[in-house]
Amino acid sequence: MFKVALLASGKGSNVKAIIESVKAGEIPVDIGVILSDNTSSGALEIAKKEGIKHYCIQEKRYKTILSTKTEKEYVRILKECKIDLVCLAGFMRVIKEEFLKNFYQKIINIHPSLLPAFPGLEAWKQALNYGVKFTGCTTHFVEADIDSGPIILQAVVPVLKDDTPETLHKRIQEKEHIIYPLTVKLIAEGKVSISGRKVYINI
Ligand code: GRF
Repeated sequence: MFKVALLASGKGSNVKAIIESVKAGEIPVDIGVILSDNTSSGALEIAKKEGIKHYCIQEKRYKTILSTKTEKEYVRILKECKIDLVCLAGFMRVIKEEFLKNFYQKIINIHPSLLPAFPGLEAWKQALNYGVKFTGCTTHFVEADIDSGPIILQAVVPVLKDDTPETLHKRIQEKEHIIYPLTVKLIAEGKVSISGRKVYINI
């Protein structure tokens, strides 16, 4: 069975959405392991509740990257668990070259904007402040530059007149919970191919 790992730092609503799709028989994968750098991440709570193997590997030295030693530990566990696809779901650490090399074209991420617009933090706030009429979310392969890899799926969310950062983020997350499980499904079923910057969905 195709094995996926879920890496998350925050509340873990995307982790939950993927697990629910797996449980509903919609995605033919095993969740091999859930990893977090944050002891109070909701993703670890969900892992415990669902009886999924999980580890918290903290990084004390840096805020946004992993030290080489810590990163090696992540890679070691992912290899040990024979992971085919690494899904970042609000994992607040930049993935460095060594990690990327070990999982070449096997790491994906979800971002709360229509990339390449608004990379980086709090993309929904950036969109609101910019005044765009539409934003959304994007799943993409992970490359060394942040939020830059080939785009897999996108969903559009209109920005409403009375939106606050919270209401907009909530509607973006509703779409995330649809396109992230779908992305995992398409990859697990071998329906996704990459050619340069372009990702083809072969269905
Ligand atoms: C999501 O908005 C995702 O786009 C971003 O981090 C957030 C994680 O949310 N990369 P959650 O922890 O899955 O609720």
